Amino acid sequence: MENFNFNVSTDIRFGKDRLDELPSVLNQFGKNVLLVYGGGSIKRSGLYEKIKTLLKENGLKMFELGGVDPNPKIESVREGVMLCKYHKIDVILAVGGGSVIDCSKVISGAVFYEGDPWEMVLSRRYEGPTIPLVTILTLATTGTEMNRGAVISDLNAKQKLGIHGTNFLPKVSFLDPSLTFSVSKYQTLAGSADILSHLMEQYFNLTPGTEVQDSIAEGLMKTVIQCMPVALHEPTHYDARANLMWASTLALNGLVGSGRKGAWSCHAMEHELSAFYDITHGIGLAILTPRWLDYILNEQTLPKIERFARNVWQIQEPDSMKAAKMGIQALYDFFEENGVPMTLPEVGIPDDRDFAAMAQQAIDHSSLLTDAFEVLGVKDVVAIYQACLTKSKFI
Ligand code: NZQ
Ligand code: ZN
Repeated sequence: MENFNFNVSTDIRFGKDRLDELPSVLNQFGKNVLLVYGGGSIKRSGLYEKIKTLLKENGLKMFELGGVDPNPKIESVREGVMLCKYHKIDVILAVGGGSVIDCSKVISGAVFYEGDPWEMVLSRRYEGPTIPLVTILTLATTGTEMNRGAVISDLNAKQKLGIHGTNFLPKVSFLDPSLTFSVSKYQTLAGSADILSHLMEQYFNLTPGTEVQDSIAEGLMKTVIQCMPVALHEPTHYDARANLMWASTLALNGLVGSGRKGAWSCHAMEHELSAFYDITHGIGLAILTPRWLDYILNEQTLPKIERFARNVWQIQEPDSMKAAKMGIQALYDFFEENGVPMTLPEVGIPDDRDFAAMAQQAIDHSSLLTDAFEVLGVKDVVAIYQACLTKSKFI
């Protein structure tokens, strides 16, 4: 295990009926609140009205940035920065999924950044001050509610980039599982696939001696595999939603990733699918991950993939290589049987015309050539994309 710091101070308020705590939480930071939200799910659920009333009753002034898209765009960040400056915002309240929260994080720093916010994103790190951020999570998936990362897109430039900011960490995050009852089947699949992917990206790693991290990852993966079908079948099942929500937070708050480096191979490849075709992040990951595992399965990667097959999927097959392949098949079947579209044409990527350009960008924007579980070059990434064009069988 390598040296690491673990300092994740977000105050988590987990559970239902805790919204009454919101005014006192916001009041710690000031009176002028920028409410950031997406395309309207919080209006349909009634959450928007509740927040508006609560803030008004408690003397807080609410300003709004609505309409933040999935795969949040730099244009929304620019708009948010203008609103913050104009209204002298003291605290940002992000209510939604990863897109809303990520957009809010970048706004919170870009207010203090001299220059255009996209330049800040291009630099991939921001160490300056931020406006305090409070979140109300409505979708269990990214873990952004308790981490320092954000992902922003500039579709004109066909770029989707992650940025890390020391002060992007939310001050307080409200995690009420009942707010996810209204999440569609498709977004439940995408969110669960994203949580699983975060765990796998950190688990499939060559750093030795990370038993704590690996055991936690396996436990969280098994939790998602158990709870996702329950939530799909019964969207208002509180405990299934609660376990998915807490798993999403723990999967990407440093608990599993500390003590080892890595390249986040499938995320590097997926971000280019989203940058070129604006697809749903978690679905892209579900499509890529089994093909990636199959492509990189070799003598060096076998022990970890076999361990995954045995500990996560309970594969009993005595032969190591066969067991590993059965684990990859089990992952693919889990997604497919639950309704994930498992080929790129099904999500609007019809053929290989952009694969070379996407693969080059995946390499340029990541450490696939240096830190990956199995190093990948342009040809390898293209081959993995190619394998996603049709249905797969691994055994
Ligand atoms: O926009 P609204 O109307 O709110 O609808 C959203 C959106 O259409 C809907 N939704 C959210 N909560 C809902 C709901 N619908 C019904 N009921 C609810 N309670 O779900 C749709 C997707 O929302 P979005 O926020 O885009 O999804 P997600 O949370 O998966 O975020 C995806 C973004 O996060 C980035 C992704 O790349 C992508 O840009 N990521 C951020 C990470 C981070 N900051 O740590 C790590 C991840 O790996 C990921 O890259
Ligand atoms: Zn992700």
